[in-house]
Amino acid sequence: MTEHLTVVRHPLVQHKLTIMREKSTSTAVFRQLLREISQLLAYEITRELPMTTKPIETPMEAMDAPTLDGKKLALISILRAGNGLLDGVLELIPSARVGFVGLYRDEETLQPVQYYYKVPEALEDRVVIAVDPMLATGNSSAAAVQLLKDSGAKNIRFLCLLAAPEGVARMKEAHPDVPIVTAALDDGLNDLGYIMPGLGDAGDRMFGTK
Ligand code: URA
Repeated sequence: MTEHLTVVRHPLVQHKLTIMREKSTSTAVFRQLLREISQLLAYEITRELPMTTKPIETPMEAMDAPTLDGKKLALISILRAGNGLLDGVLELIPSARVGFVGLYRDEETLQPVQYYYKVPEALEDRVVIAVDPMLATGNSSAAAVQLLKDSGAKNIRFLCLLAAPEGVARMKEAHPDVPIVTAALDDGLNDLGYIMPGLGDAGDRMFGTK
């Protein structure tokens, strides 16, 4: 991918996102739409995956047919909201390997601290897609991507539902080599770090917590 930021303006993505943003939308509908949107975004982020051909036999004759090249993709969920995006992407790419990164924000230093980290082996040989619905300040996303790089990942993409300009700038500064695919670029962050107009707390909305 060449662009640092791709906003997927497909009508189905935009329509579903509008329903997700509405505060009256139920947890069940929010979850279902997130699953559907994640597949449309995954379609975009996998557009330029490396391809090769392999010889196959159709019922009619032999041919060299296109197929994905290289090791299985790695999908990395940034906990906990990343899991909502992960489910849909996994339906589209069922053979992908899956990892998890858990970070929380230290209340004193305000820096992300790792509490869980488990990723597939041979990250250096895989296309790695990190998923987190909300790219807000970008601090935890940038930290998560750094952990993946420290594990050897060289070809990383970042998939989110909503991005704030602050988060995009932070990622561009820390990881200019990591393309971002999102459904919308919103106006900015409020004082509490929420994306405006946003959709609220993505984790709470998908898991029905408060
Ligand atoms: N995380 C969320 O869930 N929502 C925001 O608006 C920002 C970060």
